[in-house]
Amino acid sequence: MAYRNLEIANRGAVRTITVNRPDKLNALNRETLNELTLAFTQAAQDDDVRVVVLAGAGEKAFVAGADIAEMNGYTPVQAQGFSRAGQRLMSLVERLGKPVIARIQGFALGGGMELAMCCHLRVASEKAKFGQPEINLGLIPGFGGTQRLLRLAGRGAALELCLLGGPISAQRAYELGVVTRVVAPEALDETVNAMADQLAASAPLAAAGILDAILQGGETAIDQGLEFETQAFALAFSTEDMREGTTAFLEKRKAAFKGR
Ligand code: COA
Repeated sequence: MAYRNLEIANRGAVRTITVNRPDKLNALNRETLNELTLAFTQAAQDDDVRVVVLAGAGEKAFVAGADIAEMNGYTPVQAQGFSRAGQRLMSLVERLGKPVIARIQGFALGGGMELAMCCHLRVASEKAKFGQPEINLGLIPGFGGTQRLLRLAGRGAALELCLLGGPISAQRAYELGVVTRVVAPEALDETVNAMADQLAASAPLAAAGILDAILQGGETAIDQGLEFETQAFALAFSTEDMREGTTAFLEKRKAAFKGR
């Protein structure tokens, strides 16, 4: 299907979803949120897709936030719907069951930082800027930013970033655990592609088990998290990929995973 605000590209088992409103620094209006929700739902359902890369069009921004022009006219009830739609999208991405890599150049502010934080791997250009500047607009983060930043970077960093609102560098975001890799701008695509290719060749059911155990476990007490891990570990033994992976090791050859 054709999207007005997204570009979709496939490279083998890697699907790239690009937010494509560069003249508005890829700001998330309601229509873009809806399209992203549809695009991620399709990526989840398509067995040929094993990895998703999420990007922003142009050099200047990954996503510079929720669309301020649209929010300016919202009633509280509309704002509630907008926040819920954003939160649903972020949860959908986080619980996609397939690895999602955020490719971050330029600004990742407000809803853009929130969108990056719900991805599983975040690769940033050295020139990227992160921040939760909502306080400067008399607002608070509404797409899960207060909660995901708290879990990713801890209470101190979450309070500092949300209260001060100022942008931070990619290096500072790395130190806080908000991004997992920082690379030179010219190495961004190469790094993201290599990561995506590695994930595309790995056992998808094992990847799904890892995502589940870490994401569910992070929200439970340790005993429940450990039990969840045991169940996911045992489930892996029901897959052909587990037999193939262990047999390939013993036979000193490269495993060919099929997602079964
Ligand atoms: N919502 C709607 N439009 C946005 C936007 C947003 N979050 N961020 C940028 N834009 C638009 C600008 O209004 C401008 O549109 P125009 O050309 O029609 O006037 C266009 O994108 C380019 O942005 P501009 O501000 O001219 O670029 P800049 O390089 O001078 O500044 C930023 C870049 C990121 C510092 C600045 O755009 C900014 O502060 N954006 C808002 C960030 C924010 O508060 N995000 C959280 C929202 S909850």
